[in-house]
Amino acid sequence: MLTAQQPVFRKFWHAVMPLTQLQGGPQPFTLLGVAIVLFLDEHGEPAALRDRCCHRTAKLSMGWRIDEGPLCGKLQCGYHGWTYDRTGRVVSIPQYGAERPVPPDYRTPAYHCTARYGYAWVALDEPIADIPAMPEFGKQGWRTIYQFYETWATSPMRALENSFDNSHFSFVHRATFGVASQPQPSKYRLNDTEAGFYAETVVPASNPEAFQRISGVQDAVTTRHMRNAYYLPFSRRLDIEYPSANGQLGKRHVIINCFTPIDDGHMQLCQWLFRNDTEADCPEAMLIHFDDVITREDKAILESTDPDAVIDVRRRGVEFSMESDKPGMMIRKRLFELLTAHGEAEVHRSPTVIPIQAASSTGS
Ligand code: FES
Ligand SMILES: [Fe+2]
Repeated sequence: MLTAQQPVFRKFWHAVMPLTQLQGGPQPFTLLGVAIVLFLDEHGEPAALRDRCCHRTAKLSMGWRIDEGPLCGKLQCGYHGWTYDRTGRVVSIPQYGAERPVPPDYRTPAYHCTARYGYAWVALDEPIADIPAMPEFGKQGWRTIYQFYETWATSPMRALENSFDNSHFSFVHRATFGVASQPQPSKYRLNDTEAGFYAETVVPASNPEAFQRISGVQDAVTTRHMRNAYYLPFSRRLDIEYPSANGQLGKRHVIINCFTPIDDGHMQLCQWLFRNDTEADCPEAMLIHFDDVITREDKAILESTDPDAVIDVRRRGVEFSMESDKPGMMIRKRLFELLTAHGEAEVHRSPTVIPIQAASSTGS
């Protein structure tokens, strides 16, 4: 599937940028192949416009936010100073006198944009689903850690299926938590939900001394109770619970991922971490480092895959599967149903199917 070629994804909210990055002025982002500019309006709320001035097409992200006076919170183009409000209307042309009105059709497209969980979220068309809930955000007893915000040369589908794939730990993560001697994946219990599905399992995990403040457990091998939920189209929530130890509740390590589609070959990894412990129990820097090492392992292998993942499974022979790919197949099914419900077929690069040839007995 070529993600940016499927219009239905325009109808969902996507996490686009941490609000802190907008404090310094307007910022560009590419969402589903559309160049947008984000800025904070006069109320400090994020706004999103097409990153194209309607005068001579300069990128509005090269301009600036006006910080005072009657045009405070408006976005000024850096070329000739035309100035936009959050609806995309040109509200000021400095070359005109104050008495001369701006024609009402002078505008650039504006998109749905809202602040939630410390991020600006954007929907290019009228959204048909809510932003996934993050009940731990700001809740007593929980810490919020903004872990990752970075571009990967892969597709959301690849990142999603990887995040539900129990059979790669012993290989991709053999240097970290994967147990190399146990390649047989633990089975998920899977249940469909309205927003996607819910998958639950318990997996063994290496727990060397360096990880023991993360897990709160002192054994060399421990378990992770994984509660993993998929939300259409490109988000997931992974709640990892470690066993209780020393009379304390098990540590919870709750990761939220939004795999935001940039274009057909790139996505933005947005990752929040929630923990039910304190800085004294396990420092934030250690938590970021721990997940960073694992995340680098996933990134390297995923960037070697073809971002054009098969969604329509009737296209047999492009990719082959095994039992543990079931969550990935369920994601495909849900995405395929979504496309179908909106009158879309999967758009893909027709791959050259290489016929499988019998192995030569003659050699050379
Ligand atoms: S191109 Fe933006 S004001 Fe001229
Ligand atoms: Fe992984």
